[in-house]
Amino acid sequence: MVELTLPRNSVVKQGKTFREKGDKEKQVKIDVYRWNRDSGKNPCIDTFWINVKNLGPMVLDALNYIKNNIDPTITFRRSCREGICGSCSMNVNGVNTLACLKPIQGKDLKIFPLPHMRVIKDLIPDLSEFYKQYKSIKPWLRPKQKNSKKEILQSPEDRKKLDGLYECVLCACCSTSCPSYWWNSEKFLGPAILLQAYRFIVDSRDRDKKKRLEMLNDAFKLYRCHTIMNCTKTCPKNLNPAKAISSIKKMQITN
Ligand code: SF4
Ligand code: SF4
Ligand code: FES
Repeated sequence: MVELTLPRNSVVKQGKTFREKGDKEKQVKIDVYRWNRDSGKNPCIDTFWINVKNLGPMVLDALNYIKNNIDPTITFRRSCREGICGSCSMNVNGVNTLACLKPIQGKDLKIFPLPHMRVIKDLIPDLSEFYKQYKSIKPWLRPKQKNSKKEILQSPEDRKKLDGLYECVLCACCSTSCPSYWWNSEKFLGPAILLQAYRFIVDSRDRDKKKRLEMLNDAFKLYRCHTIMNCTKTCPKNLNPAKAISSIKKMQITN
């Protein structure tokens, strides 16, 4: 994990304000969380007033516009701008989401990094612990026929069981919206990783269903989920991690 500490008495205050020339009525106000640990200064909120006509439809377009035209130091992750890479996850107007899938719709925006994560810079959270947890569930197929060079077939019914699971882009929006994950992120795997674990448990081509269930049968890894449902509510891909978690719990009893 990257070692990061905020300055003492860290209070988020107003930073700089930038206003484009033009009619205020036709502008969007965009507040962006800024923090650069190398500066030694406290985090702050920078405000940008941007003419609507200059913006594309999505929040990511607004951030790209600011970076390309106003402040090149503003830092955020992005790659595909299609909701596929999962890297532009952030908190927009109080909701964790993918910036490239979130429409602006002429509304003022408050943009923060994903909550309860260490911040590396501006809108970039430290996801090293999250990826370590992902690795812990062994997210790869362990096929029934070892070293077989043949294609492993799957019936349409078995393939259907992966729908609503394989689409997860590991954006961490769900895990970082979960109060149980906020308080126990070093021990509770959280909704994203549990949904991924379930994706391999129900894959008919995998031989380790039993081992995978045993590994999750733990008071913290799985049972810290109290079905609060924030995860499902926030998922920008409209997946249902809470349902995957309850299915794993059910399988712990029935298998
Ligand atoms: S389940 Fe949804 S919110 Fe969670 S990591 Fe996957 S895509 Fe992101
Ligand atoms: S349903 Fe479980 S995993 Fe999802 S937000 Fe609630 S406690 Fe967290
Ligand atoms: S840029 Fe890839 S999901 Fe948003």
